[in-house]
Amino acid sequence: MLRLGTLELSKPYFQASLSGYTDRAMRLLGKEFGAPLTFTGVMLDKMTLHPTVLKRPDFSAQEDEHPVGAQIMGSSAGLMSRAAKNLEAAGYDLIDLNFACPAPKVLRRERGGYLLNQPELVLEIYRRVREAVRCPVLMKLRIGVDGSEAARENFRRIYEGACEEGIDALVIHGRTVDQKYKGHADWDMVAEVKRRYPRITVIGSGDLMTAEAAVERLRSSGVDGVAIARGAIGNPWIFRELDCLLRGRPKPEPPSVTEQGEVLLKHFNMVTQLYARRKAFLYFRKFAVRYSRRHPHRKAVQLDLMTVKGEQAVRDKIRQWYGAD
Ligand SMILES: Cc1cc2nc3c(=O)[nH]c(=O)nc-3n(C[C@H](O)[C@H](O)[C@H](O)COP(=O)(O)O)c2cc1C
Repeated sequence: MLRLGTLELSKPYFQASLSGYTDRAMRLLGKEFGAPLTFTGVMLDKMTLHPTVLKRPDFSAQEDEHPVGAQIMGSSAGLMSRAAKNLEAAGYDLIDLNFACPAPKVLRRERGGYLLNQPELVLEIYRRVREAVRCPVLMKLRIGVDGSEAARENFRRIYEGACEEGIDALVIHGRTVDQKYKGHADWDMVAEVKRRYPRITVIGSGDLMTAEAAVERLRSSGVDGVAIARGAIGNPWIFRELDCLLRGRPKPEPPSVTEQGEVLLKHFNMVTQLYARRKAFLYFRKFAVRYSRRHPHRKAVQLDLMTVKGEQAVRDKIRQWYGAD
């Protein structure tokens, strides 16, 4: 059981926000394989002011997706609270505030992870959003802008402030912003937040590439739940595996090559429906490269799926390598 304010999940994990990946297709697949909650990738607060944006395949919440969360980023409490309101009205079940993104253009515009050095503004944004919506509100944090004492102190002020206001959950990626995705996530820092605020829901994130790693972190860190991010790209089976391991059952047999092919085709077909034809096969490459990791001829499959052009040709290649219909 994982409590996120008024939303209760039956399992202690969900599919994380992954900008450029967690569109409707990846969200539906995650759900199908057992993720009890999925998220959009991060959206800029002011984008949500344009009604058409919320109809885009990456940002629309449709009936068959619930529960689904929206993640927003910005540096104005007013705009962020309007965005949260719009997203709640558009059907999202919860709102996650991104104070974690390390992308240089985001930092240059003083958003995302940049704000970890501005605890007062972060807490002001949180309060305004909290007032604007009824649904659960979460915060996605990294453990500081960098490894300095000042950054650590700012991170501490943010989580203390949020916990004291009774935030519905904190999602903490155990890296600093300047680490980007390098090095290892510091799970001791994540565990410390949970130890200090046992009544607040704390979700850990970082280096959960396999179901075993996620189970180990859940058990050893004391967090309430984990967010599965890169580990779910081209690998929706991770949710099925996690479910079995957490129930004390053996890990299921890996998917056969044919099953892999069926899921690949299903994912590709969803992507072609979501996006304009010309873009779909290019867009799909980053997923195909991950799916192919499970194939016994990984290198050859990867090369083929990376270079093939056109929608039908992708399908033919998948059928050829995986024998799927
Ligand atoms: C390509 C990519 C896009 C991401 N986009 C987002 C995002 O939009 N919002 C967010 O909160 N985190 C985002 N993240 C961070 C992940 O949600 C997660 O916290 C991070 O990857 C650490 O987990 P992992 O090591 O298990 O992947 C992104 C990560 C990657 C690699």
